[in-house]
Amino acid sequence: MPLERYQYLSNVWKDGIFDNKVVFCTGGAGSICSAQVRALVHLGANACIVGRNVEKTESMAKDIATARKGAKVIGIGAVDVRKPELLQAAADKCVKELGSIDFVIAGAAGNFLAPMDQISPNAMKSVIDIDVLGSYNTVKATLPYLVESASKHRTNGHTQPANGTPLQSHVSVAKAGVDAMAVSVAIEQGPKGITSNIIAPGPIADTEGVARLSKQDHREQSSKGVPSGRYGTVKEIADATVYLFSDAGNYVNGETLVVDGGQWHTAGFANG
Ligand code: HXC
Repeated sequence: MPLERYQYLSNVWKDGIFDNKVVFCTGGAGSICSAQVRALVHLGANACIVGRNVEKTESMAKDIATARKGAKVIGIGAVDVRKPELLQAAADKCVKELGSIDFVIAGAAGNFLAPMDQISPNAMKSVIDIDVLGSYNTVKATLPYLVESASKHRTNGHTQPANGTPLQSHVSVAKAGVDAMAVSVAIEQGPKGITSNIIAPGPIADTEGVARLSKQDHREQSSKGVPSGRYGTVKEIADATVYLFSDAGNYVNGETLVVDGGQWHTAGFANG
């Protein structure tokens, strides 16, 4: 049963603006990434989503394809972003089946709450590997295709702001790395017509991030602490994504677009 458009995309956007574009997205079965891809597909793009879980990734691809009649969406499972060869194979398959890669969302991430003195070296390494090396592997595998593609291009990672969030030292360290990498890509690849930006979501309702980082009985109270007075929606992250990938975002490069209801300016979220 296709979702009604208004559930995942605002009506300010025009159908067809992403005709003939292909988006490649890691972590694509997740709640935020799937909404981002769904919005792009609705507006004309085809898509390839990759993830670790085969069933979840393949079934999400089928679901996203219902966003637009005739949309092609492929799901490639069993791809751990820590494995460069698997990402390369996925990018190659995307181009073979869909013809190009025009937009990239490096969405795969790892997160949990733990004080620094209780995080094992392997846990710290796992999050840094998934977030930093995973994003690097994604950029590396797709960059030649982005350069090759004749039209304008985007790479786009998303993360939370790289401040020192309590109980998330592992994530703060990793996200700072991803932020720095996005700027490096912007500077190095800008002359080739590529833009690279970060979307930094705050607490977004009904997502794995909030489920992992905030206790259920604390959510109502913690949502009131957001300057906008509520948690965000996946649609609001999808809207930011459409903006950056659209012509309206052509001259935005190397930026972090924080979409968090002003949370970033306050003492912080989570740990509740
Ligand atoms: C402490 C933990 C832990 C926890 C796992 N580990 N969970 N340590 N607290 N809750 C430790 C393990 O004991 C192990 O260390 C090491 O981490 C690796 O874990 P594994 O289970 O072997 O698997 P791995 O695939 O490497 O796990 C990666 C992971 C996991 C990051 C730890 O949580 C994961 O797969 N996450 C993916 C999904 C996810 O996190 N999504 C949410 C993203 S939300 P030892 O020493 O025992 O070997 C997000 C944005 C939120 O990022 C924004 C909100 C504002």
